[in-house]
Amino acid sequence: MAAAVLCLSLGAAPLRADESAPSFSGPAAHAHVAALAGDPGARQAGSVSQAAATEYLARAFQSTGATVTTQPFPITYFETRLTQLAIQGPLGQLVATVPLTYSAAGSVEADLEFVGLAREGDFSPSDVAGKIALVQRGEIRFGEKVDRLASAGAAGAVIYNNLPGTFSGSLAASSRIPALSISREDGEMLLDQLRGARLRARLDVDASTAQRVATNVVATLSGGPRQVVVGAHYDAVAGSPGGNDNASGTAVLLELARIMAKERPPFTVTFVAFDAEEIGLLGSAHYVSTLSEAERSNVVAMINLDMVGVGTVSRFGGSDHLVRSAMAIAGELGQSSRPLGDGTLTGASDHSSFQRAGVPAVFIHRSEDPNYHGPNDRADLVDPENLHIAGEIALRLIRRLAGEL
Ligand code: BES
Ligand code: ZN
Repeated sequence: MAAAVLCLSLGAAPLRADESAPSFSGPAAHAHVAALAGDPGARQAGSVSQAAATEYLARAFQSTGATVTTQPFPITYFETRLTQLAIQGPLGQLVATVPLTYSAAGSVEADLEFVGLAREGDFSPSDVAGKIALVQRGEIRFGEKVDRLASAGAAGAVIYNNLPGTFSGSLAASSRIPALSISREDGEMLLDQLRGARLRARLDVDASTAQRVATNVVATLSGGPRQVVVGAHYDAVAGSPGGNDNASGTAVLLELARIMAKERPPFTVTFVAFDAEEIGLLGSAHYVSTLSEAERSNVVAMINLDMVGVGTVSRFGGSDHLVRSAMAIAGELGQSSRPLGDGTLTGASDHSSFQRAGVPAVFIHRSEDPNYHGPNDRADLVDPENLHIAGEIALRLIRRLAGEL
């Protein structure tokens, strides 16, 4: 009921009253999510199947009348043939594993040692030397955990989830020791067994890297030198269909392009579907690197949509003045919202590539998704109404920025 009321109020109050202007359609956006979020792994950057998504986006942007270009760039593609964790001994057991992108390849057999979150001071280096570390997910980057453990002489690392089920993560750069991930349930089970006894384990990672190409898709509505960049990453992690992360933001991006194309704003709006976000924000970093100094200083704002389809609360991060505007708009729409603050998520998506280059940016997303980076991040769990809200917030923000230009 509340959703229906909200829908009406959104539809009834366009800021620029133009009878013929189309309004943002949640169901149309959801159709894009369904088209993009098929099989787990189908949108891993550099994979053969990801090319179909690139093609889909180029066509969808083209149909809006925007000028479309593709922007290829090189990436290091990570491919796993096998990950395995076998607990030795009379009750020998195989634990279900998920690869961690950019893990070193290797096979090690050693005792398991619990190291908590593997922050500075969480374990003593002499305790992990030669051992396979059992690590809890959370607080700091996976790469930082594994790097600290490798420096302490650990032989391998097993990161267990801090949410139910398994997840797919990336180390952001090649590790020195083999590492993989397991579910929270299995992690807690091993931790339990470790309390009473020594556990010997064998860890195998058979993986390799290859040089491949990833592709940003850029759609431009020209309107002068000043510009607003609206972006969303369309790649997904290897083990996930990427429905919420981030077919949701990509779908909102396509629907925004359809609407803005009819409005002819007094400045340029550039829509960018970024590739290779999940392996280190590479697409956005590449896009920023292609802007000249003059172009960069003409970008009034970057609006990043990432994970906007699941959850109850809108959240905003990034540059203070844009966060304030976004919160005010969410309030007008009757949405509860929260700023992100300087938490761990602030560097977690493509807006931070822009902020690092001095471009004001805002990160629009929603509260915690229990299926984040998991095999169940499916299109059917993405709520069209949430897409509608994210789209409406972005639209109003763009129009508000236009008023200030
Ligand atoms: N979509 C996530 C970021 C995110 C997480 C947004 C939770 C909202 C809620 C993004 O795709 C991601 O997974 N980022 C990585 C870091 C990146 C540099 C590889 C992360 O947060 O671990
Ligand atoms: Zn994401």
